[in-house]
Amino acid sequence: MPPAAESFNQWLDSLPQWRGMLRISPERPYAHAEDQYDSQYGISAPDPEEGQGLCALLEQQGIDTTGPALEIGCGTGRLTFGIAHHYPGSDFVITDPSPTFLRLTSSQLPPPRVGPAKLHYALLNADDLGELPAGMFSLIAMRSTLHHILHVEEFIAACARTLRPNGAIALGAEPVESGYLLMAAVSQSIAPTLQAAGVTLRPEWERQLQAFTETIKFYCRRDLVKNNAEDKHLFSPTELGDLGERHGLRLRYFTNATFSDFAPPHAPDWEGFSTFFLNYLEFCMQFDAEFMALIRTHLRTQLKFIEECHRSHVGPAVTGVFVFRKQSDPA
Ligand SMILES: C[S@@+](CC[C@H](N)C(=O)[O-])C[C@H]1O[C@@H](n2cnc3c(N)ncnc32)[C@H](O)[C@@H]1O
Repeated sequence: MPPAAESFNQWLDSLPQWRGMLRISPERPYAHAEDQYDSQYGISAPDPEEGQGLCALLEQQGIDTTGPALEIGCGTGRLTFGIAHHYPGSDFVITDPSPTFLRLTSSQLPPPRVGPAKLHYALLNADDLGELPAGMFSLIAMRSTLHHILHVEEFIAACARTLRPNGAIALGAEPVESGYLLMAAVSQSIAPTLQAAGVTLRPEWERQLQAFTETIKFYCRRDLVKNNAEDKHLFSPTELGDLGERHGLRLRYFTNATFSDFAPPHAPDWEGFSTFFLNYLEFCMQFDAEFMALIRTHLRTQLKFIEECHRSHVGPAVTGVFVFRKQSDPA
């Protein structure tokens, strides 16, 4: 068997080239306009602290980072940028099924490297992860991508296979079912609360509210065919932990944390439920500014109740960081 670095380079050399990038899967555009992604979510990618925080977390957890890293679903490079600067291994394979996203991300990072790792770009659909060589990567990193992948267990099993012992899958910004259900439950009181305050709900506000609750219901349900939906799942940390165990992976879950919380000086500042909820309505569901102002004013009592239940501890769980470490000697 060739040494690890040699077999990685052999594998890269074996991949077909497509318009300046490697091609593991056929290209597939994102469901929404890629060049408007950052403005829709009110973010500016790249965010140096996301990838820096992830690398600090790997070090803190004693994860092996000597082998190549792989990012799946890089999007506009929010997580990519910091990994490219801070990942200590020799290579970093940055992937997405969308060529436009790969181009947007690569435009922020002068080749061949900006940190210790050499950068490579590849078209990859997570459904094809089984085609990657076994025992190749030390890190598989994803931010806000697992919930797009149709067959989660098959995908995690394929990740486990291509990871090295003591390597890890690190997931950030994934939706947690119980918290999303709470958001949808709280939103049921928006219409009656505004009406009681003398506000007449416009038809477009009723449509926005219905779209939100229907969306959460769709994500929650597991009896629907979701092949053509962009966003698909909500997760339970307990179920993910069990799933990991079935494939030789041990899960650490950091409730409501973001990767950047682990960046120096490591001063975690978990976002409260109200902030997450209001941001979700505004940026993910595109509620208009006037409706948002009314919700902020009139839902204070309900949101204050939830915040007061969590004065001194984090929660309710709406998202977080998940680190699955591959056991050296899987049971
Ligand atoms: C919500 S965006 C997140 C982008 C970026 N990671 C971030 O944090 O801003 C989801 C990303 O997952 C990618 N994606 C969707 N389905 C995928 C799949 N089946 N395999 C790999 N990536 C996928 C999309 O192209 C997109 O870049």
